[in-house]
Amino acid sequence: MSKAQPGMSMERADIAFEVNGAAVSVCVPPVRRLSSVLRDELRLTGTKIGCDAGDCGACTVLVDGEPVCACLMSVASAAGTVVTTVEGLANGRLSALQASFLDHGAAQCGICTPGLLIAATALLDREPNPSETEVQDALGGVLCRCTGYRKIVAAVMDAGRFASELSTDGIAPHPPAGTFSPYSDGEKDEAPALASPSPRLSRGEGKGEGQHQLQRLDLDLDRRMPISGHAVGSSPIRLDGLPKVTGGEKFGGDSFPADALAVLVVRSPHHHARFAFGDLDAWVKTRPGIVGVFTAADIPGKNSFGVIAPFADQPALAEGFSRFRGEAVALVAGEREAILDLDLSDFPVRWTELPYLLQPCEAQAGGAQLIHENRPANLLTTGFVERGDPEAALSGAAFVVSGAIDTSYVEHAYIEPEAGHAYMDGGTLVVVACTQAPYMDRDDVAKVLGLAADKVRIVPTATGGGFGSKLDVSLQPLIGLVAMKTGRPAALAYTRNESMISTTKRHPAEMKATIGADADGRVTGMVFAGDFNTGAYASWGPTVANRVPVHASGPYATPNYRAEGRAIHTNGPISGAFRGFGVPQATIMQETLYDELSEKLGLDRLDFRLKNCLRNGSETVTGQRLEAGVGIAECLEALRPHWTRALADAEKFNSANDSRKRGVGVASCWYGCGNTSLPNPSTIRVGISATGDVVLHQGAVDIGQGSNTVIAQICADALGLPLEKFRLKSADTAITPDAGKTSASRQTFVTGKAAEKAGGALREIMLRFANVSEKAAIALDGTSLVIREGEATRHIDLSTLKADADGFVFRAEESYDPPTLPLDAKGQGKPYAVYGYGAQIAELEVDLKLGTVKLIKITAAHDVGKAINPLLAEGQIEGGIAQGIGMALMEEYIPGRTENLHDYLIPTIGDVPPIETILIEVPDPEGPFGAKGLGEHVLIPTAPAILNAIRHATGVLVTKIPATPSRIRAAIRDKEAGR
Ligand code: FES
Ligand code: FES
Repeated sequence: MSKAQPGMSMERADIAFEVNGAAVSVCVPPVRRLSSVLRDELRLTGTKIGCDAGDCGACTVLVDGEPVCACLMSVASAAGTVVTTVEGLANGRLSALQASFLDHGAAQCGICTPGLLIAATALLDREPNPSETEVQDALGGVLCRCTGYRKIVAAVMDAGRFASELSTDGIAPHPPAGTFSPYSDGEKDEAPALASPSPRLSRGEGKGEGQHQLQRLDLDLDRRMPISGHAVGSSPIRLDGLPKVTGGEKFGGDSFPADALAVLVVRSPHHHARFAFGDLDAWVKTRPGIVGVFTAADIPGKNSFGVIAPFADQPALAEGFSRFRGEAVALVAGEREAILDLDLSDFPVRWTELPYLLQPCEAQAGGAQLIHENRPANLLTTGFVERGDPEAALSGAAFVVSGAIDTSYVEHAYIEPEAGHAYMDGGTLVVVACTQAPYMDRDDVAKVLGLAADKVRIVPTATGGGFGSKLDVSLQPLIGLVAMKTGRPAALAYTRNESMISTTKRHPAEMKATIGADADGRVTGMVFAGDFNTGAYASWGPTVANRVPVHASGPYATPNYRAEGRAIHTNGPISGAFRGFGVPQATIMQETLYDELSEKLGLDRLDFRLKNCLRNGSETVTGQRLEAGVGIAECLEALRPHWTRALADAEKFNSANDSRKRGVGVASCWYGCGNTSLPNPSTIRVGISATGDVVLHQGAVDIGQGSNTVIAQICADALGLPLEKFRLKSADTAITPDAGKTSASRQTFVTGKAAEKAGGALREIMLRFANVSEKAAIALDGTSLVIREGEATRHIDLSTLKADADGFVFRAEESYDPPTLPLDAKGQGKPYAVYGYGAQIAELEVDLKLGTVKLIKITAAHDVGKAINPLLAEGQIEGGIAQGIGMALMEEYIPGRTENLHDYLIPTIGDVPPIETILIEVPDPEGPFGAKGLGEHVLIPTAPAILNAIRHATGVLVTKIPATPSRIRAAIRDKEAGR
């Protein structure tokens, strides 16, 4: 709960050094972190803060040519040195490395990119052609949570092939000179206007061979397109890519107004406690620079928020009781320097620790204390699906397997902790912060602060990873409250610890299942029960409870089925949305049992899956008939040659080794895109400006996955105009229509469909205006709209047409809401309009004595319907796999013990093996250009494939996830002892 730096002192000193070729002098306390000085005094916000503890590497800069963590270095130590930040890499032109990052799609959200670029620059300075191992060694201290690192490795190794020919014209200059005032120069409105006045870049075709030469997109985009000239199916450099490699991208903490009050959050140190405040006014009065303390008593609206309105239960500031460790109870606002120096140890709050319940079994025990009075037995909600007669099917089955698996809390560990600022613009509260769901944020902030929804404007900044957790509001109502109460802008960046203790996690699951098959190897029945620890507040618990029973069968025909998912409250961290909403946990249960069942049947594990997988015409466990677009068989078939080769490799290795054994595992996934049986519409607006641009009002927040680019690609082809003519207006609740939240793999499908409709509608409007048929071709030439049909060509001077308030001379706005049907009491219905499918093979080696696992390769086949942008799709797959690796082997959040990135381990660049991606395109009739969602799917098969591979290697299945060396070793010992 502290932002103060260790050893802060008000004594200042003049400290001079060189930054990016310019001499600078700052007058600051000498112990201040170099990272803080670079960002706050010199406004070089390209240097990021992910942990302030040397764990993430986001703050890496060069000091006298050597990479250092700027958060671990005092500014006094930098005196007289030469410092290079990411802003210094592009000297009028992008460096070859920056160009290579863009070309390879090595930056997704981009928050880690500056640190990686700096570390890689140091490597390339001494070794221009590094090996993969050298790249991994050099970049091992910089974490990335989005990409899975493979494209980063490729970009660094490939950098030598890029000519430094890229102009950075249009990029705001960064190199400092002289002394700067802190924060921004008082401009409050950091809302992006038309993004992308800066050059956008195209990427070379023939990736990996021949000349890679990047050029200005507006000069040369068409050359990069497939022969057909379509944007869909090509991989142009992401439209928002350039600032990610120059340090120009503004994340939540990068644009604080100069006059903003800094905010500290006082949080509960206990899992469950009663608290009372002392004399807050007296405490404030004795602290110069502290402006006020705010508690629940100051909240003018309803002190309760939540992503699912009927379950909303979380106070912005707790009232008298805190239900989990890290819960916010008060805010302290003050001048920035005063907050930096503030000691909260004597903050007037008295805590009375209360008994707490951390495990679902404790919370469900008879007589257990209720965490919410209105939720008997601490049960938040239950999801249920039943079809046929599972008991009869299991009792009549030729083979039956049963098992139980427990999983752990998993932390999202995005590299950007939550950050943002708020200010009053007349009577409107403006919140500028990282988020995945601007309209949901708006509604929750308005509710808590007692404002009408149209009196709250949410302006999303770039978001440095989300993966589900930034769907829930975090600091938005808190900074909004301070801005409203004080009339001053209010700014807050969570510390790493604060981010980890207060925001949501993946639900720990305790699961049991039984699956039966007939003698021919056809699955006849399955029963599944899962308890999901949803923590202190509801968040997305109801979604997990409902989504799991729909998906727990896997993408397999299961005629007799019962599945129940229960979300149970504890005093643990709040569990919410995390890539897959409980499906990754359930898939571990089902896919590991499938291996056991195929073994009993004497069937090859891949063949067994192919025999049972869903096909066109199959009915799902909810009774939904899938008429078309079912691509799981194609995914499994695509893996077959890899499977055969991998099994042979493992056998050969194992016959020659005793202490280390290789294993191969396979697992599948399916995932319904969008909300479960609930509306989730998206609206897209697109228009032609009088200046001859296509302006896309695109409100789907791009958290790194690429929606800014993908949705523009879809719209471009539907409209029939080239991508280079597009200008984006990014999400802003005052400007862009609601494109829903970035979650549940819905943006490519749902918002993409809205973009397809809007592009088509705009085209029709222009054709009608020109009185030509739908066969006509349109083009933009300066301010002319050129329309050709047959031999006839017509020019329409757009500058002579009357523009509307948005600057459009032609405009269209279209919405799309997936056609779903509600589930009945037995969970029967049509919960999703579109499903995506995938399957992965994991190859690994286990040291039988140590229990350690070395991954050798992951091969992933995913049916995306239509790869709108193959490079971005690959990036999603690699990133999801990396998170799946973490979930399988190392990630376990334990409140009170792993609340930082030192103790909580996520995969580093050395932990992700080569990944081979196979994109399968079985078009879905509903999706735009046949596309399906992808974001969640890609993580789901990884952990079960790894666990199955460990079992193949060792003969043991680890039933408590993650499968750490000690758990693997214990399982092997148990087997050896015959237990
Ligand atoms: S290592 Fe410096 S911010 Fe994480
Ligand atoms: S791109 Fe690396 S953390 Fe997002």
